[in-house]
Amino acid sequence: MINTQLLQQQFAEGLDLFLKGCSDSALYDPIQYLLSLKSKRIRPLLAMSVCQAEGGSVEDGMPSALAIELFHNFTLMHDDIMDEAPIRRGDATAHVKFGENAAILSGDVMFVLAYEALEQASELPQLLRMLNTTAKEVCEGQQQDMEFEGRDNVTSSEYLEMIRLKTSVLLAASCAMGAISAGASNERVGLWYEFGEKLGLAFQIQDDYLDTFGEQKHTGKRVGGDILSDKKTYLRIQTQAKTELPDTSNCSESEKIDVIRQLMVDTGANVDAKTLMNEYSADAFNSLQKLRLDEGVNQWFSALLNSITERLS
Ligand code: IPE
Ligand code: IPE
Ligand code: MG
Ligand code: MG
Ligand code: MG
Repeated sequence: MINTQLLQQQFAEGLDLFLKGCSDSALYDPIQYLLSLKSKRIRPLLAMSVCQAEGGSVEDGMPSALAIELFHNFTLMHDDIMDEAPIRRGDATAHVKFGENAAILSGDVMFVLAYEALEQASELPQLLRMLNTTAKEVCEGQQQDMEFEGRDNVTSSEYLEMIRLKTSVLLAASCAMGAISAGASNERVGLWYEFGEKLGLAFQIQDDYLDTFGEQKHTGKRVGGDILSDKKTYLRIQTQAKTELPDTSNCSESEKIDVIRQLMVDTGANVDAKTLMNEYSADAFNSLQKLRLDEGVNQWFSALLNSITERLS
Protein backbone atom coordinates (compact mmCIF):
# COMPACT_ATOMS: atom_id res chain seq x y z
CA MET A 1 0.00 0.00 0.00
CA ILE A 2 1.24 3.52 -0.76
CA ASN A 3 1.65 5.69 2.34
CA THR A 4 1.40 9.34 1.28
CA GLN A 5 2.65 10.81 4.55
CA LEU A 6 5.62 8.46 4.69
CA LEU A 7 6.65 9.24 1.11
CA GLN A 8 6.37 12.99 1.80
CA GLN A 9 8.48 12.63 4.92
CA GLN A 10 11.11 10.52 3.15
CA PHE A 11 11.28 13.08 0.35
CA ALA A 12 11.68 15.96 2.82
CA GLU A 13 14.56 14.10 4.49
CA GLY A 14 16.15 13.36 1.11
CA LEU A 15 15.91 17.02 0.12
CA ASP A 16 17.41 18.24 3.40
CA LEU A 17 20.30 15.85 3.00
CA PHE A 18 20.89 16.82 -0.61
CA LEU A 19 20.93 20.56 0.18
CA LYS A 20 23.10 20.26 3.28
CA GLY A 21 26.06 22.19 1.88
CA CYS A 22 23.89 24.86 0.25
CA SER A 23 23.44 27.40 3.00
CA ASP A 24 24.39 30.79 4.36
CA SER A 25 25.23 32.53 1.16
CA ALA A 26 23.55 35.07 -1.07
CA LEU A 27 23.43 32.43 -3.79
CA TYR A 28 21.71 29.69 -1.80
CA ASP A 29 19.54 31.69 0.63
CA PRO A 30 16.74 32.29 -1.92
CA ILE A 31 16.67 28.55 -2.66
CA GLN A 32 16.44 27.59 1.00
CA TYR A 33 13.80 30.27 1.46
CA LEU A 34 11.56 29.11 -1.39
CA LEU A 35 11.92 25.46 -0.42
CA SER A 36 11.15 26.20 3.24
CA LEU A 37 7.70 27.61 2.41
CA LYS A 38 4.73 25.26 2.53
CA SER A 39 4.00 23.56 -0.80
CA LYS A 40 2.20 20.49 -2.10
CA ARG A 41 5.20 18.61 -3.49
CA ILE A 42 2.92 16.80 -5.87
CA ARG A 43 5.64 16.05 -8.44
CA PRO A 44 8.05 14.18 -6.13
CA LEU A 45 5.03 12.38 -4.65
CA LEU A 46 4.12 11.21 -8.15
CA ALA A 47 7.69 10.13 -8.95
CA MET A 48 8.06 8.18 -5.71
CA SER A 49 4.58 6.64 -5.73
CA VAL A 50 4.89 5.49 -9.34
CA CYS A 51 8.33 4.07 -8.57
CA GLN A 52 6.80 2.13 -5.68
CA ALA A 53 3.82 1.01 -7.77
CA GLU A 54 6.30 -0.40 -10.32
CA GLY A 55 8.23 -2.32 -7.66
CA GLY A 56 11.06 0.16 -7.01
CA SER A 57 12.41 1.30 -3.64
CA VAL A 58 12.48 4.77 -2.07
CA GLU A 59 16.20 4.96 -2.93
CA ASP A 60 15.44 4.12 -6.56
CA GLY A 61 12.93 6.95 -6.87
CA MET A 62 14.73 9.61 -4.85
CA PRO A 63 17.12 11.03 -7.53
CA SER A 64 14.25 11.61 -9.95
CA ALA A 65 11.99 13.05 -7.24
CA LEU A 66 14.72 15.48 -6.15
CA ALA A 67 15.61 16.46 -9.71
CA ILE A 68 12.00 17.19 -10.62
CA GLU A 69 11.15 19.19 -7.50
CA LEU A 70 14.34 21.26 -7.82
CA PHE A 71 13.61 21.85 -11.49
CA HIS A 72 10.03 22.84 -10.63
CA ASN A 73 11.21 25.34 -8.00
CA PHE A 74 13.71 26.80 -10.46
CA THR A 75 10.85 27.43 -12.91
CA LEU A 76 8.77 29.05 -10.16
CA MET A 77 11.57 31.43 -9.15
CA HIS A 78 11.94 32.65 -12.72
CA ASP A 79 8.18 32.48 -13.46
CA ASP A 80 7.51 34.89 -10.60
CA ILE A 81 9.90 37.41 -12.13
CA MET A 82 8.26 37.03 -15.55
CA ASP A 83 4.73 37.24 -14.08
CA GLU A 84 5.70 40.08 -11.71
CA ALA A 85 4.16 38.05 -8.89
CA PRO A 86 4.48 39.54 -5.40
CA ILE A 87 3.44 36.48 -3.38
CA ARG A 88 4.24 32.77 -3.57
CA ARG A 89 3.41 30.08 -1.03
CA GLY A 90 1.90 32.71 1.26
CA ASP A 91 5.02 34.85 1.50
CA ALA A 92 7.04 37.33 -0.56
CA THR A 93 8.38 35.95 -3.84
CA ALA A 94 12.13 35.34 -3.95
CA HIS A 95 12.85 38.26 -6.28
CA VAL A 96 10.86 40.65 -4.06
CA LYS A 97 12.68 39.46 -0.96
CA PHE A 98 16.21 39.09 -2.35
CA GLY A 99 16.17 41.18 -5.56
CA GLU A 100 15.78 40.16 -9.20
CA ASN A 101 19.43 39.45 -9.92
CA ALA A 102 19.67 37.15 -6.90
CA ALA A 103 16.52 35.29 -7.97
CA ILE A 104 17.81 34.86 -11.54
CA LEU A 105 21.14 33.40 -10.43
CA SER A 106 19.69 31.29 -7.60
CA GLY A 107 17.20 29.93 -10.11
CA ASP A 108 20.06 29.09 -12.47
CA VAL A 109 21.99 27.19 -9.83
CA MET A 110 18.81 25.38 -8.77
CA PHE A 111 18.54 24.16 -12.36
CA VAL A 112 22.07 22.76 -12.06
CA LEU A 113 21.25 21.21 -8.68
CA ALA A 114 18.36 19.38 -10.34
CA TYR A 115 20.79 17.67 -12.70
CA GLU A 116 23.26 17.02 -9.90
CA ALA A 117 20.53 15.22 -7.96
CA LEU A 118 20.09 12.87 -10.89
CA GLU A 119 23.80 11.88 -10.98
CA GLN A 120 23.22 9.02 -8.53
CA ALA A 121 20.43 7.41 -10.53
CA SER A 122 20.76 4.09 -12.30
CA GLU A 123 19.02 4.27 -15.70
CA LEU A 124 20.77 7.65 -16.03
CA PRO A 125 20.77 8.02 -19.85
CA GLN A 126 17.03 7.34 -20.11
CA LEU A 127 16.21 9.69 -17.22
CA LEU A 128 18.43 12.43 -18.66
CA ARG A 129 16.75 12.16 -22.05
CA MET A 130 13.34 12.57 -20.46
CA LEU A 131 14.39 15.50 -18.25
CA ASN A 132 16.11 17.29 -21.14
CA THR A 133 13.11 16.96 -23.44
CA THR A 134 10.79 18.07 -20.65
CA ALA A 135 12.93 21.06 -19.64
CA LYS A 136 12.99 22.36 -23.22
CA GLU A 137 9.23 21.92 -23.52
CA VAL A 138 8.60 23.83 -20.28
CA CYS A 139 10.63 26.76 -21.66
CA GLU A 140 8.68 26.58 -24.94
CA GLY A 141 5.41 26.66 -22.98
CA GLN A 142 6.55 29.60 -20.86
CA GLN A 143 7.50 31.49 -24.03
CA GLN A 144 4.02 30.88 -25.51
CA ASP A 145 2.38 31.90 -22.21
CA MET A 146 4.15 35.27 -22.40
CA GLU A 147 3.49 35.79 -26.11
CA PHE A 148 -0.21 35.09 -25.57
CA GLU A 149 -0.43 38.03 -23.10
CA GLY A 150 -0.11 40.36 -26.09
CA ARG A 151 -2.55 38.51 -28.36
CA ASP A 152 -6.36 38.60 -28.30
CA ASN A 153 -7.08 35.78 -30.75
CA VAL A 154 -5.62 32.82 -28.84
CA THR A 155 -7.70 29.69 -29.48
CA SER A 156 -8.56 27.04 -26.92
CA SER A 157 -6.38 24.51 -28.76
CA GLU A 158 -3.43 26.93 -28.61
CA TYR A 159 -4.13 27.36 -24.90
CA LEU A 160 -4.20 23.60 -24.34
CA GLU A 161 -0.90 23.11 -26.14
CA MET A 162 0.65 25.97 -24.14
CA ILE A 163 -0.38 24.48 -20.77
CA ARG A 164 0.64 21.00 -21.92
CA LEU A 165 4.13 22.37 -22.49
CA LYS A 166 4.54 24.72 -19.53
CA THR A 167 2.97 22.44 -16.89
CA SER A 168 1.64 19.10 -17.97
CA VAL A 169 4.82 17.55 -19.38
CA LEU A 170 6.57 17.98 -16.01
CA LEU A 171 3.83 16.05 -14.20
CA ALA A 172 3.98 13.46 -16.99
CA ALA A 173 7.77 13.25 -16.62
CA SER A 174 7.39 12.88 -12.84
CA CYS A 175 5.32 9.73 -13.40
CA ALA A 176 7.46 8.43 -16.26
CA MET A 177 10.77 9.00 -14.43
CA GLY A 178 9.37 7.21 -11.38
CA ALA A 179 8.55 4.25 -13.62
CA ILE A 180 11.95 4.34 -15.36
CA SER A 181 13.66 4.42 -11.94
CA ALA A 182 11.89 1.18 -11.04
CA GLY A 183 13.03 -0.46 -14.27
CA ALA A 184 9.56 -0.58 -15.82
CA SER A 185 9.09 -1.52 -19.50
CA ASN A 186 8.94 1.20 -22.16
CA GLU A 187 5.29 0.40 -22.64
CA ARG A 188 4.47 1.02 -18.98
CA VAL A 189 6.63 4.16 -18.89
CA GLY A 190 4.55 5.43 -21.82
CA LEU A 191 1.28 4.63 -20.05
CA TRP A 192 2.41 6.47 -16.92
CA TYR A 193 3.45 9.44 -19.05
CA GLU A 194 -0.02 9.49 -20.63
CA PHE A 195 -1.67 9.43 -17.19
CA GLY A 196 0.54 12.29 -15.93
CA GLU A 197 -0.05 14.36 -19.05
CA LYS A 198 -3.85 14.24 -18.67
CA LEU A 199 -3.62 14.86 -14.95
CA GLY A 200 -1.28 17.79 -15.67
CA LEU A 201 -3.79 19.44 -18.01
CA ALA A 202 -6.48 19.18 -15.33
CA PHE A 203 -3.95 20.50 -12.81
CA GLN A 204 -3.19 23.69 -14.78
CA ILE A 205 -6.87 24.36 -15.59
CA GLN A 206 -7.53 24.24 -11.84
CA ASP A 207 -4.48 26.47 -11.21
CA ASP A 208 -5.95 29.02 -13.62
CA TYR A 209 -9.36 28.72 -11.98
CA LEU A 210 -7.91 29.29 -8.50
CA ASP A 211 -5.90 32.28 -9.70
CA THR A 212 -9.22 34.06 -10.32
CA PHE A 213 -11.74 32.33 -8.07
CA GLY A 214 -9.55 31.03 -5.23
CA GLU A 215 -8.54 32.68 -1.97
CA GLN A 216 -5.08 33.96 -1.18
CA LYS A 217 -5.11 32.25 2.22
CA HIS A 218 -5.32 28.91 0.36
CA THR A 219 -3.40 29.52 -2.87
CA GLY A 220 -0.64 31.58 -1.26
CA LYS A 221 -0.67 33.72 -4.43
CA ARG A 222 -2.13 37.09 -5.35
CA VAL A 223 -5.71 36.49 -6.52
CA GLY A 224 -6.40 37.99 -9.95
CA GLY A 225 -2.78 38.03 -11.13
CA ASP A 226 -3.68 36.28 -14.41
CA ILE A 227 -6.37 38.89 -15.16
CA LEU A 228 -3.94 41.74 -14.52
CA SER A 229 -1.34 40.16 -16.87
CA ASP A 230 -3.96 39.46 -19.57
CA LYS A 231 -3.12 35.74 -19.41
CA LYS A 232 -5.00 33.78 -22.02
CA THR A 233 -6.52 31.19 -19.75
CA TYR A 234 -9.46 29.04 -20.84
CA LEU A 235 -11.58 31.24 -18.55
CA ARG A 236 -10.56 34.30 -20.52
CA ILE A 237 -10.84 32.65 -23.95
CA GLN A 238 -14.36 31.39 -23.21
CA THR A 239 -15.41 34.80 -21.88
CA GLN A 240 -14.12 36.56 -24.99
CA ALA A 241 -15.93 34.03 -27.18
CA LYS A 242 -19.24 35.00 -25.59
CA THR A 243 -18.91 38.73 -25.00
CA GLU A 244 -16.79 41.72 -25.86
CA LEU A 245 -14.43 42.64 -23.06
CA PRO A 246 -14.71 46.28 -21.92
CA ASP A 247 -11.75 48.65 -22.09
CA THR A 248 -10.15 48.44 -18.65
CA SER A 249 -7.12 50.61 -19.39
CA ASN A 250 -8.34 53.37 -17.06
CA CYS A 251 -9.41 50.99 -14.28
CA SER A 252 -7.51 50.47 -11.06
CA GLU A 253 -6.04 46.96 -10.62
CA SER A 254 -8.82 45.84 -8.30
CA GLU A 255 -11.50 47.28 -10.60
CA LYS A 256 -10.03 45.41 -13.57
CA ILE A 257 -10.02 42.15 -11.62
CA ASP A 258 -13.61 42.64 -10.44
CA VAL A 259 -14.95 43.56 -13.89
CA ILE A 260 -13.33 40.67 -15.76
CA ARG A 261 -14.06 38.13 -13.02
CA GLN A 262 -17.75 39.10 -13.05
CA LEU A 263 -17.87 38.64 -16.84
CA MET A 264 -16.32 35.17 -16.43
CA VAL A 265 -19.24 34.31 -14.15
CA ASP A 266 -21.93 36.02 -16.25
CA THR A 267 -20.83 34.22 -19.43
CA GLY A 268 -20.55 30.88 -17.65
CA ALA A 269 -16.85 30.63 -18.51
CA ASN A 270 -16.18 29.57 -14.92
CA VAL A 271 -18.46 26.56 -15.44
CA ASP A 272 -16.87 25.82 -18.85
CA ALA A 273 -13.42 25.69 -17.22
CA LYS A 274 -14.62 23.25 -14.56
CA THR A 275 -16.22 21.09 -17.27
CA LEU A 276 -12.99 21.02 -19.28
CA MET A 277 -10.99 20.16 -16.19
CA ASN A 278 -13.34 17.29 -15.37
CA GLU A 279 -12.96 15.95 -18.91
CA TYR A 280 -9.18 15.76 -18.51
CA SER A 281 -9.55 14.24 -15.09
CA ALA A 282 -11.80 11.54 -16.58
CA ASP A 283 -9.22 11.03 -19.36
CA ALA A 284 -6.53 10.60 -16.73
CA PHE A 285 -8.71 8.08 -14.90
CA ASN A 286 -9.14 6.08 -18.12
CA SER A 287 -5.39 6.13 -18.75
CA LEU A 288 -4.84 4.89 -15.20
CA GLN A 289 -7.06 1.85 -15.86
CA LYS A 290 -4.80 0.80 -18.76
CA LEU A 291 -2.02 0.20 -16.23
CA ARG A 292 -4.03 -2.62 -14.58
CA LEU A 293 -2.74 -1.84 -11.11
CA ASP A 294 -3.72 -3.73 -7.96
CA GLU A 295 -7.01 -2.46 -6.57
CA GLY A 296 -5.50 -0.60 -3.57
CA VAL A 297 -2.86 1.12 -5.72
CA ASN A 298 -5.45 2.06 -8.33
CA GLN A 299 -7.60 3.56 -5.60
CA TRP A 300 -4.67 5.56 -4.22
CA PHE A 301 -3.93 7.13 -7.63
CA SER A 302 -7.65 7.78 -8.23
CA ALA A 303 -7.87 9.58 -4.88
CA LEU A 304 -4.78 11.63 -5.79
CA LEU A 305 -6.45 12.60 -9.06
CA ASN A 306 -9.58 13.71 -7.18
CA SER A 307 -7.51 15.72 -4.72
CA ILE A 308 -5.98 17.62 -7.65
CA THR A 309 -9.32 18.64 -9.15
CA GLU A 310 -10.87 19.46 -5.79
CA ARG A 311 -7.89 21.32 -4.39
CA LEU A 312 -8.10 24.88 -3.07
CA SER A 313 -4.35 25.50 -2.96
C1 IPE B 1 2.62 25.94 -9.40
O1 IPE B 1 2.80 24.61 -9.08
C2 IPE B 1 3.02 26.15 -10.83
C3 IPE B 1 2.18 25.47 -11.79
C4 IPE B 1 2.65 24.69 -12.71
C5 IPE B 1 0.76 25.67 -11.79
P1 IPE B 1 2.23 23.98 -7.74
O2 IPE B 1 0.78 24.34 -7.62
O3 IPE B 1 2.56 22.53 -7.74
O4 IPE B 1 3.03 24.74 -6.63
P2 IPE B 1 3.66 24.23 -5.24
O5 IPE B 1 4.95 23.59 -5.59
O6 IPE B 1 2.67 23.31 -4.60
O7 IPE B 1 3.85 25.49 -4.45
C1 IPE C 1 3.60 28.28 -14.20
O1 IPE C 1 2.36 28.69 -14.58
C2 IPE C 1 4.25 27.29 -15.08
C3 IPE C 1 5.69 27.22 -14.79
C4 IPE C 1 6.24 27.74 -13.74
C5 IPE C 1 6.52 26.57 -15.75
P1 IPE C 1 1.74 29.84 -13.69
O2 IPE C 1 2.41 31.14 -13.94
O3 IPE C 1 0.27 29.79 -13.84
O4 IPE C 1 2.11 29.33 -12.19
P2 IPE C 1 1.76 30.13 -10.87
O5 IPE C 1 0.27 30.37 -10.90
O6 IPE C 1 2.54 31.38 -10.89
O7 IPE C 1 2.14 29.20 -9.76
MG1 MG D 1 3.51 32.04 -15.47
MG1 MG E 1 3.05 32.59 -12.45
MG1 MG F 1 -1.13 30.17 -12.25
